[in-house]
Amino acid sequence: MRILITAGPTREPLDAIRLLTNRSSGQLGIAVASEAIKRGHDTTLLLGRGTHSPPSTIEACCRRFDSTNDLQSLLDETFPAADLLIMAAAVADFIPEQAPAGTKMSRHDGPVQLTLHPAPDLVATIANRKRPEQTVVGFALEPGATLIDRAIAKLSKKGLDAIVANPLDTMESSHITARLIWANGQIDTAADDLTKEAFATWLLDRLAPGL
Ligand code: C5P
Repeated sequence: MRILITAGPTREPLDAIRLLTNRSSGQLGIAVASEAIKRGHDTTLLLGRGTHSPPSTIEACCRRFDSTNDLQSLLDETFPAADLLIMAAAVADFIPEQAPAGTKMSRHDGPVQLTLHPAPDLVATIANRKRPEQTVVGFALEPGATLIDRAIAKLSKKGLDAIVANPLDTMESSHITARLIWANGQIDTAADDLTKEAFATWLLDRLAPGL
């Protein structure tokens, strides 16, 4: 199977030296890519910068991105040849209006206001355009109390085939407690507090069974 995985944060420049980013470590996507390669899948990992370095075993299948725009270009290039997209990247929801190229906001007294514009929803766009035989799986990282409801709402709004629902404390952790929710309403529950490596095995058993 040709599996495309995205992982890690996007980084949006505020000026020539500052970035707006998030705490995603990319660990889960790296674990899924490692497991996919071990199973013999034709695997590509699109990985944000500022994350854990990928192990040498997956370096050859790994391409790095910085901004949402970079990730969009890589997805445009690689998604058409994929059977399965696992969209674990923590993509920006808002992109700052940038200072002119090569400039740096200088320090001054008083508050500074940033203007943020909504980012394009990459996975929703892809899910909208995908061929029927392609599978698109997203992630929902939400506070525990509203996790499942919000994940189901995202699954349907974005037009995904399935979504991994995981609570906020998954971020930067080596462990994960998650459920896989399918568009037909089926919910698969993984054991609590799995290592991300064990969760990668569990997830691929469901998304790419048979190998
Ligand atoms: O809307 P929210 O950011 O919570 O949705 C999470 C899912 O949507 C993840 O799979 C993430 O990779 C994807 N996403 C995206 N483009 C964005 C924001 C999120 O593809 N701008």
